[in-house]
Amino acid sequence: MRVRIDGGTLLEPILNKRYQASVLMDDQTGLILSVGTDLPEADYVIALNGELLLPGLVDLHVHLREPGFEAKETIATGAAAAAAGGFTQVACMPNTNPPLDSPQLLEWVVKASEDVGLTRVRPIACITMGQAGEVLTDFAALQAAGAVALSDDGKGVQHGGRMREAFERAAAVGLPIAIHAEDETISGAGVLHSSAARRLGLTDIPPEAESAMIARDILLAEQTGAHLHVCHVSVESAVSLVRWAKSRGVRISAEVTPHHLLLTEAVIDRDDAVFKVNPPLRTEADRLACIEGFLDGTLDVLATDHAPHTAAEKSQGVAAAPFGMVGLETAFALMYTHFVATGRMTLSDLVHRASTAPTSLFQLNGGVIVPGAPADLTVIDEKTERLVTPDEFASKGRNTPFAGWRLVGWPVLTVCAGKVVYQRQPTVGGNNA
Ligand code: DOR
Repeated sequence: MRVRIDGGTLLEPILNKRYQASVLMDDQTGLILSVGTDLPEADYVIALNGELLLPGLVDLHVHLREPGFEAKETIATGAAAAAAGGFTQVACMPNTNPPLDSPQLLEWVVKASEDVGLTRVRPIACITMGQAGEVLTDFAALQAAGAVALSDDGKGVQHGGRMREAFERAAAVGLPIAIHAEDETISGAGVLHSSAARRLGLTDIPPEAESAMIARDILLAEQTGAHLHVCHVSVESAVSLVRWAKSRGVRISAEVTPHHLLLTEAVIDRDDAVFKVNPPLRTEADRLACIEGFLDGTLDVLATDHAPHTAAEKSQGVAAAPFGMVGLETAFALMYTHFVATGRMTLSDLVHRASTAPTSLFQLNGGVIVPGAPADLTVIDEKTERLVTPDEFASKGRNTPFAGWRLVGWPVLTVCAGKVVYQRQPTVGGNNA
């Protein structure tokens, strides 16, 4: 079937100029056929009212929890959350149970997500067997099974020699290594940033735990030529290290989360695990350094680190609860409201950091609206203000620190491979042509 979207506002990315155009696509091939005005007839027409029509958003860092932690999230609920958040492609972390350390497990995730069909799920495979930090996985076999990167996310690989070998092998197969930078000999069993930990009488994850490991891995990446991707940067020293590595020509990229751009440890005024995340919320100086790094391109991409947990787990208090916040369904509106609407960032730049740049970093397909590209599209309503309402999330996780925030720039329609995978009524209408 040929589907046409009329009445959308597209963005010319370089000039940040808006223009009206239609997009014609084929839901069988899943590809865009043409973009422009006066397009050919279609079997079905979706009529927009001037809403923004963007390339589908891409998130390089989510936790879909399946297999093993289905009470927190499943591939189906995580994919529905992605679609509701405007994400047509997500890279999922391997800290499942069992962890994604074998080609069979990766193939299972790929198949299960294709059966769900709401978003494209790209698995990230473990660096070490069982994420135990000891025996390296078979990178080439994992790549053949669909791995787009390697990571032991949730944990840093503590042994430098083993990591050196991992970088050598990753360079040979051409896969990025995405690091959860945490030197556990420094962080131990810490749960919060140092000042917040002191306030609540808990143990800390100091900034050095993050930046020491980033420094080590920058040097290893430089020596081996592998692509180092630094997950969820949270501290000033880490931003400076990434900037320094880029100035030396190291093959490095980095991500930042909405929560590290918008919140600090100062919000933690009570024993509430909704604020517990790893890396932790840091100081205002760290937040400002992350913003500066994001705006100047040191931190290449926005990533949510969508980490759903059950209400029971999160109600245990900061010391005992698991780390993590959900993020897929709030990321774009948070960034639109606080960065684009406030004039800190152009819309084109946000779209680049949340779609085009992540697509190219992990060598995925998408991130552009041109004939022949995947028909992955996100429609954004720039006008309607809504509150963040966790009870309405498609995700099983309700653990967001942004509940009750008033935001604009919400996704209202998501198209993946030419099919409507999310639609919020009554903003947009559809009819048969
Ligand atoms: O807050 C976090 N949650 N950070 C991580 O690194 C892991 C994640 C999870 O899996 O829940």
